[in-house]
Amino acid sequence: MNKNRLSPALASALNAQMTKEAYASQIYLSFASWADTQGFEGVATFLFRHANEERNHMMKILEYILKRGAPVTIAAIPAPPAHPASINNCFEMVFAHEVDNTTSIYKLAKMSMDEEDWATWNFMQWFVKEQVEEETLALKLLDKMKIAGGDKAPTDTLYLLDSELLKGPDKARAAEDVTTENP
Ligand code: FEO
Repeated sequence: MNKNRLSPALASALNAQMTKEAYASQIYLSFASWADTQGFEGVATFLFRHANEERNHMMKILEYILKRGAPVTIAAIPAPPAHPASINNCFEMVFAHEVDNTTSIYKLAKMSMDEEDWATWNFMQWFVKEQVEEETLALKLLDKMKIAGGDKAPTDTLYLLDSELLKGPDKARAAEDVTTENP
């Protein structure tokens, strides 16, 4: 009896997305370490928290694939890109990465709709909503940087921005606690 409720194409795409979320976590870890080295403790803390969140996304997909009776393939994670040139550039790269991830999430949502796999389509809606939140967060940071002067932002303004980020709530939670209302 076949207990696999995912098509081979969707199982493969979900496995690829799982690795992509792991890659996102590596990017945030890399940028966080870079920010810490530069003395930006607030930016580093924010990025470390986000690295956890990306890992939770990875686990959420992994658990879903298993729940649907399909095989999980743990693949190699590509190396993150080179360090950002500045805090402004760091936030630009974070935003670009999130937009790229949204494209990937939309493809999965479309695939599940085309296959009439409504369970997976419903599962993907959590990620569609989450991407809006993540893009908004990155855009807000870019807006703040723009007001501060972008790449020319003075040190005291960067210090204030960094201190503000240090106060942020710890959003990272275990994957099993993550819900649509509570991402
Ligand atoms: Fe898992 Fe930042 O998207």
